Amino acid sequence: MSDGTMRRQVLLFILVLSVSSALGQVSYSVPEEMATGSFVGNVAQDLGLDIKRLKSGKARVFTRDSTAYIELNREKGILLIKERIDREALCGEMTPCALHFQILLEDPMEFYSVTVEITDVNDNPPTFVTSDVQLNISESALIGASFTLDRATDLDVGRNGLKTYVLKPNDVFSVKMNSQGDGGKSVEMVLNAPLDREKNDHLSLVLTAVDGGEPQMSGTMQIHITVLDFNDNAPVFTQSVYKASVPENAPIGTAVVTVSATDADYESNGRISYSISNMLDHARGLFGIKRETGEVILNGKFDYEKKKNFEIHIRATDGGGLTGSCKLIVDVLDLNDNSPDIHIMSKSNVISEDAKPNTVVTMINVEDADSAENGKVHCVTNDDNNFILKSTSGKFYTLVTDSELDRERAAEYNITVTCSDEGVPSLSSSVTLTLQISDVNDNPPVFERSSYEAYITENNTPGLSIFTVKATDSDWNQNARVSYILEDSSVNGVPVSSYVSVSADSGVIHAVRSFDYEQIKDFQFRVKAQDGGSPPLSSNVTVKIMIQDQNDNAPQVLYPVQTGGSLVAEMVPRSADVGYLVTKVVAVDVDSGQNAWLSYKLQKATDRALFEVGLQNGEVRTIRQVTDKDAVKQRLSVIVEDNGQPSRSATVIVNVAVADSFPEVLSEFTDFTHDKEYNENLTFYLVLALAVVSFLFITCVVVIISVKIYRWRQSRILYHSNLPVIPYYPPRYSDTLGTGTLPHVYNYEVCRTTDSRKSDCKFGRAGSQNVLIMDPSSTGTMQRIQSEKSILDEPDSPLEVRPLSYLLSH
Ligand SMILES: *[C@@H]1O[C@H](CO)[C@@H](O)[C@H](O)[C@H]1NC(C)=O
Ligand SMILES: *[C@@H]1O[C@H](CO)[C@@H](O)[C@H](O)[C@H]1NC(C)=O
Repeated sequence: MSDGTMRRQVLLFILVLSVSSALGQVSYSVPEEMATGSFVGNVAQDLGLDIKRLKSGKARVFTRDSTAYIELNREKGILLIKERIDREALCGEMTPCALHFQILLEDPMEFYSVTVEITDVNDNPPTFVTSDVQLNISESALIGASFTLDRATDLDVGRNGLKTYVLKPNDVFSVKMNSQGDGGKSVEMVLNAPLDREKNDHLSLVLTAVDGGEPQMSGTMQIHITVLDFNDNAPVFTQSVYKASVPENAPIGTAVVTVSATDADYESNGRISYSISNMLDHARGLFGIKRETGEVILNGKFDYEKKKNFEIHIRATDGGGLTGSCKLIVDVLDLNDNSPDIHIMSKSNVISEDAKPNTVVTMINVEDADSAENGKVHCVTNDDNNFILKSTSGKFYTLVTDSELDRERAAEYNITVTCSDEGVPSLSSSVTLTLQISDVNDNPPVFERSSYEAYITENNTPGLSIFTVKATDSDWNQNARVSYILEDSSVNGVPVSSYVSVSADSGVIHAVRSFDYEQIKDFQFRVKAQDGGSPPLSSNVTVKIMIQDQNDNAPQVLYPVQTGGSLVAEMVPRSADVGYLVTKVVAVDVDSGQNAWLSYKLQKATDRALFEVGLQNGEVRTIRQVTDKDAVKQRLSVIVEDNGQPSRSATVIVNVAVADSFPEVLSEFTDFTHDKEYNENLTFYLVLALAVVSFLFITCVVVIISVKIYRWRQSRILYHSNLPVIPYYPPRYSDTLGTGTLPHVYNYEVCRTTDSRKSDCKFGRAGSQNVLIMDPSSTGTMQRIQSEKSILDEPDSPLEVRPLSYLLSH
């Protein structure tokens, strides 16, 4: 077939549809039987599509059935024949015959509908079912009598279909075509001249069927006629056309209709038998007829979706060979026996959670082979909160997102699309699409708490883990990988990083140094949690670290001042009453709370019955009347303990002089310093003296006696001259000798022990004592007292004191 004979008709109409994914439609027309690779149409041009878009969108042809007759050449944007098309196989008698398909594009998903009409080519000749037919005709047949012949069929349509019949020779019979109700034509022979069996009992004719194509094609059938003896009447059907309708899928053996014919002759010439004279290919074998009764029954099954009606020719033959004919038209009734067929044209399996509403997820094509209501389909989705189905035409749906997606809310959707037809009962089918939502870094890490507080006991080992902060991120994978960062800040002017460190992976906070509660009680800083997204998101939290006190400091005694060699003695007059305030032991503890809660106890005393120490205030008082028998020197050992666990303590020696006059005190306190040494050396001196006496006894009696007398006298004189007494009376208890002494010490205590259980402020009267300071070297004492002054704050004490202080020196 040359290109010149082709008649190409290109129809182009672009429809702008409401939904963007179905943009247009284009139609072409091509003859059947074209060679593979033949040009069909330039879709790119006709649809206004760019070649680049065809390539980037991976344009392809989508057809429901697997045979693709047409292919798309993406490089040129043209449609080509992919496989030879036989119109008769594709459409049968149906006209017009067309191929419907879509051109699918991705990114974004869209499709265009293409219709290619297949025009007929005269490639089929008219054919007869049988090439020979035997007829019996009575010699009495009248001129003008007609005899029905089998029709020829031509699979081509239109002008290529069957056109006419030619009968040869045509001296006795001529051929005649009769139009019938269904548009078809029956063919008959008409008798033109009388038959004489005696002259010619056999005739042979050739019937030729020709079509209207170019070149013309034809088919022939031999007709053998036997001329019979006298039979007046041919059978006549009561109706020339019978109609019946049968539901599809009717069982085999179902009676379709009963035809009947009458014959006016008697005997065998009037006995009628029925037969099916002609059936088209597709009807062959489907119907049968009972010879005697004319009942047409179903021999096979038929399907409305394949063939909607059948035409059968029935012949009635009498015993004499005369025939009559009629036609039976069987309409097939549609049943709703096909459920909608859903076909996914294109789909996304994964969609980003930040996809805009109205993003196309899937395109669906749905078909229902039934007709009318049984074939009308409507589709719905089970998740109409997030997705909606838009219909571009009855057969095409696009599933689009209807709202913002959030992977943290739903990471996967199973969307079921259900399509049902409108038949009764309705048939439906469904398809489930799984759509994954991919993550976008849209959630910052969130700390479990809005702020954190942690405690650590002082004197910790550096590197100790104090505490863990934790933040969670509801995104996925890398976007949810949280790292912890210590934010720069300073504590007391030192970067916080020299106090603590934060482990990036685990959020564990470590102490970098050992903390001292006495230096820093608490501090705070910020920790940032940052995810691994791009760009990363972060949040921060305040962490406050509180250092807890440990009992790591012993009480310090401030008064009485403990000096290495000097002796400070409190003086108690022998006239003192019970409860006389001798002195007050003053101590501080730099710890806090229980650890600084001090208690005072008398540990050792020369006379336990004479003094007591106030448990909480450290006041030393007499508990009985002082008597003359009481020793002048009284030595008390007071222990000061804090309340920590374990507790720490300090011991202080309080010297008390019970005397009314200073010389008394003086003599006693001289021994104070020496009697210990004396006692220790006593034994040694005794042994030595005994040895010396024994050795010298006999040899030096007289001389020694005289010398001894002389020595004894000399030593007495020396002793008296080496003991200068310097009584010291301060005119007023103030800065004599340029030193601040007791009152200042007391004031200092008032301020330093405020957090102790009992404030020493009540202790103002503690200064009303007699104070005795004794030191082997007077200058040493002065220096020490002066050095104490540096921590005293108030130079003028309001306290009224009446001390008697002595400074004794060797
Ligand atoms: C979707 O269907 C799959 C397979 O049936 C199932 O494993 C999954 O849990 C379903 N997802 C949801 C969100 O229902
Ligand atoms: C810490 O978080 C607060 C809000 O919680 C924010 O205002 C501030 O800017 C953040 N600071 C830093 C240093 O990121």
